[in-house]
Amino acid sequence: VRTVKVPLAERSYDILIGPQLLKDLPKYCQSLQLGTRCSIITDSHVGPRYADDLKSSLHQAGYKPDVVTVRAGEKSKGIRTVDYCYDALSLHHLERRSFVIALGGGVVGDLAGFVAATYLRGIPFIQVPTTLLSQVDSSVGGKTGINLRAGKNLVGAFYQPRLVVCDSGTLRTLPRREYVAGIAEVIKYGIIYDASFFNYVEKNMPKILKRDPKILAFVVARCCEIKSEVVGQDETESGTRAILNFGHTIGHAIEAISGYGRYLHGEAISIGQVLATRLSKEVKGLAESDVSRITKVFAAAGLPTKAHISAPMQKRLFDAMRHDKKVSDGEIKFVLAKKIGAVEYGVKVPEETISQLLNS
Ligand SMILES: NC(=O)c1ccc[n+]([C@@H]2O[C@H](COP(=O)([O-])OP(=O)(O)OC[C@H]3O[C@@H](n4cnc5c(N)ncnc54)[C@H](O)[C@@H]3O)[C@@H](O)[C@H]2O)c1
Ligand SMILES: [Zn+2]
Repeated sequence: VRTVKVPLAERSYDILIGPQLLKDLPKYCQSLQLGTRCSIITDSHVGPRYADDLKSSLHQAGYKPDVVTVRAGEKSKGIRTVDYCYDALSLHHLERRSFVIALGGGVVGDLAGFVAATYLRGIPFIQVPTTLLSQVDSSVGGKTGINLRAGKNLVGAFYQPRLVVCDSGTLRTLPRREYVAGIAEVIKYGIIYDASFFNYVEKNMPKILKRDPKILAFVVARCCEIKSEVVGQDETESGTRAILNFGHTIGHAIEAISGYGRYLHGEAISIGQVLATRLSKEVKGLAESDVSRITKVFAAAGLPTKAHISAPMQKRLFDAMRHDKKVSDGEIKFVLAKKIGAVEYGVKVPEETISQLLNS
């Protein structure tokens, strides 16, 4: 078992990572001294695979678990599902010391985290992320929340879990496309923070694609460490944390203009990172050899590295980027790479430079 400590004073918690941790969850719960009642919030894909076993092992350990299943998919990250979960929690008589277990991907994590943050003004919660994306991204940082019709993640709370358990074995049942999408975030951590981790991912891509549990445990742990360090340097989200948005300015815009659903988030930020890499060459003098390695590693994962964006779509792309908060005076701000492992944030790039790149 690998442990990553997330240091946040009295809200510090551990992320445990390993191949078969789900069965030991009751043991870990015991060390946290929580109440006996708990609700496992999960979705319709993950629940049927993992919730029954978890429920019975918790039961055997003396807990009183209940399973709350929501429909799989982003649509469940909304106020109606929150309401449904609140009702389920109160029917199961959860009280202040009871706890919520989020068993699923980022959707379930954000939803269940928000429910736990607000039910009875906050009860403990444990994250059991089951997608690669949620293991390397949403399990660190304490952001929970839901979508409104007006946009994604508009309502939420910073709320830290008491424990995160990443069972690399659960990634075996993840659909390949979802799994590969998560690799885009893994590669990102190498580019923004750690050149030797980038080398490692580059070298081990075939094993990563085979979901080798040992390799995965290392990869997930290193990503959590990096995110935790970056977030720890900047809890208020004023500066450094922005580097986590590498590839996301263009990536989010691509998601928005192509209609949510065409590209998975990881696919859109794969294209976004490759474009940001090429911008980095123009603006920051990133070496062509680094541009080529970065592009190749995304391709080796099976991720898209380019999208044809027609002239009218380009106009919409710019509108979407301007809408994405990180803009001042008609110049869009980017995270750009100086070399693999070192990036700079808040770099203003004229729109002309971006459109030249899109048309080249
Ligand atoms: N809180 C944060 O810091 C943070 C960070 C990044 C993303 N997010 C959020 O995460 C969400 C996306 O997360 P996601 O990519 O994990 O999507 P997801 O939760 O929708 O999971 C993707 C799909 O895989 C299925 N699935 C999950 N685990 C499985 C398993 N082990 N076996 C088989 N199927 C499985 C799910 O049912 C779903 O169909 C978005 O809503 C995003 O806003 C939050
Ligand atoms: Zn992302």
